[in-house]
Amino acid sequence: MRVLLVCLGNICRSPTGEAALREAAAEVTSDLGMDLEIDSAGTAAYHVGQSPDDRMTRVAADAGLELRGSARQVAPEDFRRYDLILAMDRDNLTDLRRIAPEDATAELRLFREFEEGADGLDVPDPYYGGRRGFEEVVGIARRGAAGLVAAVRNGDLGGS
Ligand code: 4NP
Repeated sequence: MRVLLVCLGNICRSPTGEAALREAAAEVTSDLGMDLEIDSAGTAAYHVGQSPDDRMTRVAADAGLELRGSARQVAPEDFRRYDLILAMDRDNLTDLRRIAPEDATAELRLFREFEEGADGLDVPDPYYGGRRGFEEVVGIARRGAAGLVAAVRNGDLGGS
């Protein structure tokens, strides 16, 4: 099963979601029943080629999550390659729906739909705020990733 996480810049929220999902999937590899291919991208091109944001990287590392890769923009083929494309907020979801090609096969959902006890639908954008915002992203990413892995294991997504 292929999962793509999408935010605006692909330097804060979606790389953190990606790292949290890799961590959660690794904990259950033997009984997940399938391989998960995980990547992240942004709806915007401003930060393409850049490493994840330094502030986000530091806060994630302090919590034991290693952010990887460099930013890329969502491309039309992503909508055919991935089974599930998860938007980090509702603006991202609106943008994804607008740019999806006609032959898209991916299911588009919000990341926080999978977070148990979520207090909102959006992963708040931490970019213009302080450390607290980045810490909040890590917490949401971990809870959402746990919920997503549980959904996959239960067969609620992507078959058995
Ligand atoms: P992200 O955060 O979408 O979580 O990667 C942002 C990154 C960059 C900007 C906004 C949000 N920006 O305005 O450049």
